[in-house]
Amino acid sequence: MLTNAAIKELVGTQAAELVQSGMTIGIGTGTTMEWMIRALGKKVNSGLEIRAVSTSQASNELAAQFNIPLIELNDAAKIQLAIDGADEIDPQLQLIKGGGGALFQEKMVAAAAEEFVVIADDTKLVDQLGAYPLPVEVMIFNWKQVDKQLAKLIGKPQQLRLKKDGSPFMTDHGNYIIDISFGVIENPDALNQALHDIPGVIETGLFLGMAGKALIGYPDGQTEWIE
Ligand code: A5P
Repeated sequence: MLTNAAIKELVGTQAAELVQSGMTIGIGTGTTMEWMIRALGKKVNSGLEIRAVSTSQASNELAAQFNIPLIELNDAAKIQLAIDGADEIDPQLQLIKGGGGALFQEKMVAAAAEEFVVIADDTKLVDQLGAYPLPVEVMIFNWKQVDKQLAKLIGKPQQLRLKKDGSPFMTDHGNYIIDISFGVIENPDALNQALHDIPGVIETGLFLGMAGKALIGYPDGQTEWIE
């Protein structure tokens, strides 16, 4: 039986095979994507010619270590393929993302891509989204106001994301994250809209209608495409 890390390596390495010379790709963030970036880096160092738009400072740094050419999203005429991990995946390929705090940039890159592929181990598959706390990126300027409005609207436990030292976690874009524990999200579209209606909410970790397919890895070493 494979460990969770080995499953992530398996799908990350397999996903790197989707990338063809000449492509501009989006590269996501997280421990699964680290394996994909490593595998892609080896291909680049063997002659694969690509350009990549990264979704976080962490992925920028890893990609740079492997000499993967990085460009800004604004400079990408088109992104043929974006690949990223997820925290939860439901049967309609609706996702919760942002466990690593990169949801805002991840969503911008995924939205700009012609195809968005998710890679994950099987523990991420759920019947309904919501067991994983939903990350909501908020402005620092009025985060306490947003926090109050969220409490009124949602009535579920919520938590400003903190670092190990107890100070607030700050995103690459200089914002805070409030994680909301729903248990089950009955209507992701309505929730996403309601959250966006609160001034000060920048982005949510709900990725709805974006993923075209998902590559899932299992402890027995099998992988499966879900579309
Ligand atoms: C980063 O902000 C997230 O959206 C990640 O894509 C997600 O948390 C999956 O991460 P792992 O691959 O580390 O499980």
